[in-house]
Amino acid sequence: MPRKILVAVAWPYVNGEPHLGHIAGMVVPADIFARYHRIVGNEVAMVSGSDMHGTPTALKAAEEGVSPEVVATRYHEIWSKALADMSFAYDLYTHTHTDRHIEVSQELFLGLQENGHLTEATQSMPFSETEQRFLSDRFVEGTCPHCGHDSARGDQCDNCGRTLDPIDLIDIRSKQDGSTPVFKDTTHLMLKLGDFQEQLEEWVSGKDEWRANVRNQTLGMLHEGLHDRAMTRDIDWGVPVPVEGYESKRIYVWFEAVIGYLSATRAWAEQQGKPDTWKKWWVEPDGESYYFQGKDNVAFHTIILPSILLGNGGLNLPTEVVANEYLTFGGADFSKSTGHAVWVPDFLTRYEADPLRYYLASIMPETSDSEFTWEGFHAANNNELVATFGNFVHRVLTITTRNFENAVPTPGELGEDDQEALDACDTALKEVSNAIDARRFRDGLRTAMRLARHGNQYIDSKEPWKVVKTDKEAAGTALWVGLNIIATLRTVFYPFMPTTADKIHGMLFTESNTLTDGWDRRVIVAGAPIEKPTPLFRKLDDSIIEEENARLTGE
Ligand code: MF3
Ligand code: ZN
Repeated sequence: MPRKILVAVAWPYVNGEPHLGHIAGMVVPADIFARYHRIVGNEVAMVSGSDMHGTPTALKAAEEGVSPEVVATRYHEIWSKALADMSFAYDLYTHTHTDRHIEVSQELFLGLQENGHLTEATQSMPFSETEQRFLSDRFVEGTCPHCGHDSARGDQCDNCGRTLDPIDLIDIRSKQDGSTPVFKDTTHLMLKLGDFQEQLEEWVSGKDEWRANVRNQTLGMLHEGLHDRAMTRDIDWGVPVPVEGYESKRIYVWFEAVIGYLSATRAWAEQQGKPDTWKKWWVEPDGESYYFQGKDNVAFHTIILPSILLGNGGLNLPTEVVANEYLTFGGADFSKSTGHAVWVPDFLTRYEADPLRYYLASIMPETSDSEFTWEGFHAANNNELVATFGNFVHRVLTITTRNFENAVPTPGELGEDDQEALDACDTALKEVSNAIDARRFRDGLRTAMRLARHGNQYIDSKEPWKVVKTDKEAAGTALWVGLNIIATLRTVFYPFMPTTADKIHGMLFTESNTLTDGWDRRVIVAGAPIEKPTPLFRKLDDSIIEEENARLTGE
């Protein structure tokens, strides 16, 4: 029975272009996971979209003096294109300003109200006298009462991950003009998170396999105890609150953004002409769901989203929230606000997606922050992809096409090392599979690369380019084994570097494709035609390191 796997990727703010930190933390692992589950034959839905109503977008719009919709739409297009150019295979990448999303968000909001999980309360909220409006969430910052971080925001501290209310902030100030807001009373609808305390405790306590960062953050919040949190805001950009008297307010952006996973799955199912299929992942008890994101998103996915789902009832809770630490550059967090970043669209004007996917997967910040360096990218590309993987594939295919008339040679009897090389293929398939399924992506990539290294060493030891002159059958055997390794490399690298995998497929086979071939080892058939190879990877000049570093510091 195929498993049903929902791959839920965090919804990016659309207040700027995507940088490498974004895609390394959430999209690269999600896409590896989704592609792996598709190729093994599971039913995958990978969905996400742009978080159009996020306060960073509204802030940026205020800075530019345009409406939030203008900014959101502009960057939604840039993000959509960059994600496609990276070969991230979303089943649907949509955004939160669609009718469908607004409807589903309102439906779940009302569901909570009907079930008694919302309560009205008057709250003291920061109000800007200069602008004559309430400042919520990221429109204010101040010192975190829990950890002392000096730029915590109105809804969350990025340092300790705790969710906050503006009134908690010490030395609160307006993010826009630095002025000190006054506090004024306003009425909001609060979600009674305490209603779910016990159910959430029970749910998390069964999740031993979660990464420590996610588990500990969640247990910490549960330990402190959950209390009511406002789910409406005094703003005009966002999803309207479907409750009388709330016409001038909007739903809290994090409330509706996390519902995006559900609304997008439903929208995608409708687009497929099978409007009920979303239930496979969301309602059927064996539907699995994996949420990929940066560590600052955890509270919203392990407390708020599950509360919304529990409060409505009949909807599956996350199987796992897979949060990464941060990718840093020269010691600083990748951040849109400082401009200290490598931008994906710009990167792709000079380099290809697969080497970047490879490098980012190899340094993925799974358990601690990790650093992107141009030296590292250059080395990964030249030493691992070009010199090992590419070189092996190229040599085997070139010698084969040159000496065996563009066809797979007929192997002689296999020796011990030949058999060992074939066994290494089976082992790689098994180990890469285990690692990816357990969300250990770096490990999976290392194992896949080990097979390329094995292939390279095998062919070095066999020297078919020499042997072919004296013992054509022995050379043919080595090449046949080499071709089998290449076919397996195609499969095990498919989740990581899909374009490369498909390129290999095109040189080895005339029918089917990498994905439809599945995860089983495909045995190479003697006599089948082989394409003259084109290089899989391009060697990078040493000078790019200096050039790119200079570009980064703006020198
Ligand atoms: N926009 C948020 C961020 O970039 C993530 C939202 S994830 C969602 O941090 F699930 F809430 F949409
Ligand atoms: Zn804090």
